[in-house]
Amino acid sequence: MDCDPNVRWDDIAGLHHAKKCVTEMVIWPLLRPDIFKGCRSPGRGLLLFGPPGTGKTMIGKAIAGEAKATFFYISASSLASKWVGDSEKLVRALFGVASCRQPAVIFVDEIDSLLSKRNSHGENESSRKLKTQFLVEMEGFDSGSEQILLIGATNRPQELDEAARRRLTKRLYIPLPSSEARALIIRNLLEKDGLFKLSTEDIDTICKSTEGYSGSDMKNLVNDASMGPLREAFRQGTEITKLKKEDMRAVTLQDFENALQEVRPSVSLNELGTYEDWNNQFGSFSVSTD
Ligand SMILES: Nc1ncnc2c1ncn2[C@@H]1O[C@H](COP(=O)(O)OP(=O)(O)OP(=O)(O)O)[C@@H](O)[C@H]1O
Ligand SMILES: [Mg+2]
Repeated sequence: MDCDPNVRWDDIAGLHHAKKCVTEMVIWPLLRPDIFKGCRSPGRGLLLFGPPGTGKTMIGKAIAGEAKATFFYISASSLASKWVGDSEKLVRALFGVASCRQPAVIFVDEIDSLLSKRNSHGENESSRKLKTQFLVEMEGFDSGSEQILLIGATNRPQELDEAARRRLTKRLYIPLPSSEARALIIRNLLEKDGLFKLSTEDIDTICKSTEGYSGSDMKNLVNDASMGPLREAFRQGTEITKLKKEDMRAVTLQDFENALQEVRPSVSLNELGTYEDWNNQFGSFSVSTD
């Protein structure tokens, strides 16, 4: 990872449970390797799964900023190579470098596309080899005393290969944001730009009408609502070149109500059911308390 991703723990609204688990598995063991060994040795694989736009990638980026470890951010496509045998070598090199630069955290985003179920036909040779190599490497560092942690993120956990699922020992459900978390997202985003003037009742009203919205839906909603003052100024005939930043009013509840007409939730109830089923079957905690 070559640039600071600029995401901090506090930017992530809600998800207290996930943050706690990550701290336990990643941050503490790195600070006190002498305590976290033997029976207490932390798991080597962590899977974050849940509907799209709920902050999985954000958590990965926050770890990169907070953990004092070498951080590798891998998206599945960066390992795929069209040359047969090349991607396999890349995987070996990745784990090789990680073991030289311990402690290391390897974050694989969209891990389902890398480690999808292996099937006997219809799959090309090189992607199968890539998977096998990945599984072999993961097995290797699982047994040793090496300080390497693999974190995977996916919104299609049901497509993960069984063997990969086993190696990702802790599986955390990252649910849709709760009403408090949604309020926090609105507040954080608006405060960043100095546009926050909503009352507690306003926030409550917005939170009630955004049941089922994901974190990224909330972000889109705030984006749209914050256009409200601008649109109003145009309607009154102000030209964009003459518009003064100081004269613009803050974002109001009415802006949010207009935005709610435009921005709809992106996750269906049906899909949520799939995640919850998978969580009940394989998740580390069947009841997720946000
Ligand atoms: N809990 C949250 N707190 C604050 N912002 C959030 C939260 N969840 C999502 N967002 C917003 O949504 C955007 C997308 O989140 P992110 O990329 O982490 O989603 P994801 O879970 O990785 O989705 P996907 O499964 O589609 O990759 C973030 O950039 C952020 O602005
Ligand atoms: Mg993501």
